[in-house]
Amino acid sequence: MDYFKINGPKTLGGSVPVSGAKNAALPLIAMTILAQAPVTITNLPHVVDIKTLLKLLHNLGADFTLEGNSVTIDTCCLGNTKATYDIVKTMRASILVLGPLLARFGHCEVSLPGGCAIGQRPIDLHLKALEQMGAQISIHAGYVRAEAPDGLHGAHILFDKITVTGTANVVMAAALAKGKTVITNAAREPEVVQLCEVLNNSGVAMEGIGSSELTVYGTDRRRLAIKPFAVIPDRIEAGTYLCAAAITRSPVTLTRVRPDHLEAVLGKLEEMGVSIDTTDSTITLRPSETLKPVDITTQEYPAFPTDMQAQFLALCTQAEGTSTIEERLFENRFMHVSELQRLGADITLKGSTATVKGPSPLYGADVMATDLRASSALVLAALAAEGETDIHRIYHLDRGYEALEKKFGKIGADIARLSE
Ligand code: UD1
Repeated sequence: MDYFKINGPKTLGGSVPVSGAKNAALPLIAMTILAQAPVTITNLPHVVDIKTLLKLLHNLGADFTLEGNSVTIDTCCLGNTKATYDIVKTMRASILVLGPLLARFGHCEVSLPGGCAIGQRPIDLHLKALEQMGAQISIHAGYVRAEAPDGLHGAHILFDKITVTGTANVVMAAALAKGKTVITNAAREPEVVQLCEVLNNSGVAMEGIGSSELTVYGTDRRRLAIKPFAVIPDRIEAGTYLCAAAITRSPVTLTRVRPDHLEAVLGKLEEMGVSIDTTDSTITLRPSETLKPVDITTQEYPAFPTDMQAQFLALCTQAEGTSTIEERLFENRFMHVSELQRLGADITLKGSTATVKGPSPLYGADVMATDLRASSALVLAALAAEGETDIHRIYHLDRGYEALEKKFGKIGADIARLSE
């Protein structure tokens, strides 16, 4: 198993090109099930989650060719409609094939994703919405079995909670359904917006893209002509590198980024005292010698993202005073707290709120990655810590960060990938 050895503290400097967004690429890859011809996707990040979904599509009978950061996916010969446990258990986002498989074939089976380190993460809202669209759904032997022999029909879906992959699943199902689907309380994340835009450019009439009420006019099972497109930049990767710059008090410029997708994150960084300059596709962070404490509550987009909670928790350990971070989306997303404490952080957890007292001197230690974003918080703390930190189980990081050690190495971090 690989682990990272990080020697800190180091001042960083230079520029980091931001990769394509994993969470945008996943639904877009699932969407190719709806295509009538091969689809080319560029700016695809080289991360394990993407490979996992491509493997799942391959198991279903699709072909793909990966070249650098582009992939061409041909789902014309896809004939198997069962997404099996061995793949789904490794990546919950595999549930994204449910909507498109059902819409195209009128039946499918997808393994239930099962437990997750950061919370229960049920899929009840996905299933309820598909039932409203005419699917008969049963759970049997750990699988969701969905059938709609006469195809799906439009419906009015009201999501009780905002769900990102739930919205994506329903939008993809609605694209090939018969009639009009209205989704109220839809997710507005940029990744959902891109999915809608690509579908819209592929002949699916839509209204309300980017708003919380989406209307989708289905094609009644006519498959889509999808033109080549590039995945949007990864706002969470970008936010992680900005936190690295702030915690090491280093000037760093991000390129190939969308600052407009990061408003809540940039706002909190500025509140902490660093200076931020943006152009259409770059963000430059100029550090501040002292960081101010902040209060953060994670919420759905455009508010502060839960996927940046762990990184800000690491950053707040270096602020002068008491910060609070309330996690509103996932009930168990604080596994990184005890690992940050091993490095010297002063964090108290009460319910869904973490209180961080800073600045704490951090010292290198052995720590364990527990989930994708929790792991990046450990990298940030290690960059600021005195001495050597070994971060074990970095397969979590490999799921979502492209070439992390190379990108950090290029801006001056002392970080090595080793095997144990
Ligand atoms: C997506 C992101 C993940 C991010 C999360 C929240 C992908 C691949 N993953 O996950 O990185 O942290 O959004 O921004 O894009 N819920 C239900 N029932 C459902 C569905 C969701 O109760 O059927 C709850 C969840 O438990 C959670 C909340 O709704 O409390 C939001 O979850 P959701 O937006 O669905 O997260 P994901 O789409 O799984």
